[in-house]
Amino acid sequence: MKKGLFITFEGLEGCGKTTQAKMLYNFLIEQGCPSVYTKEPGGTKIGQKVRRILLDQKNDGMDYKTEMLLFLASRAENVRLVILPALEKEKIVISDRFYDSTTAYQGYGRGIDLKTIRYLNNFVVGKAIPDLTFFLDIEPYEGLRRSTSFGNSREIRFEEEFINKKIIEGKLFLERVRDGYYHLFREEAERIKIIDANRSKEEIYNEIVEIVKRKIADSTNSI
Ligand code: TYD
Repeated sequence: MKKGLFITFEGLEGCGKTTQAKMLYNFLIEQGCPSVYTKEPGGTKIGQKVRRILLDQKNDGMDYKTEMLLFLASRAENVRLVILPALEKEKIVISDRFYDSTTAYQGYGRGIDLKTIRYLNNFVVGKAIPDLTFFLDIEPYEGLRRSTSFGNSREIRFEEEFINKKIIEGKLFLERVRDGYYHLFREEAERIKIIDANRSKEEIYNEIVEIVKRKIADSTNSI
């Protein structure tokens, strides 16, 4: 049975979600709340290997379905080895990206059938459904400008979309991904909180901490 609290961070490249996820994790540890930080793709031994395959530029041209299934494979490991065991011990789990990334990037970005993604996501996550999700919202080009990894690292995904600026239905890849997150938000406004990422690190952090404190208080009261 799931008992802890599961928080995920989502957003486009350069939105600052990794910084915020780690800041929240440190805050919770300082408060004495047993917490776990994980990320996708990655988070486990096999997940790390899958991450390397996914982000290796040499694997350019990977079939979209292969790509999606690899993200899901990394997730399956993360759920079984990290997330569910921690939730069962009533810990707070923070995941830097989770299943909304697949809906937004592979579904809205790549155009893979959303029903299939929903089915596979549910198949992989089982009871590990996020209680709270922060979508750090930023303009695609502002995010790319900020993203230190872009252009300097071999860990690049969607390079073709970024460099060739491939437009589908009048929109760039990251614009479609961003729309995808907005669709998800409209479907699940209770769970997903849109955070304006065009602010200082401290302002964003303060807003996130307040929401998390309220969530913890609510879940304690409802026991
Ligand atoms: P990440 O390591 O979070 O990169 P960044 O911090 O630069 O955003 O994620 C790597 C890439 O993988 C990122 O471009 C988003 C993408 N991704 C998907 O396309 N689908 C998924 O299901 C996940 C988890 C990530």
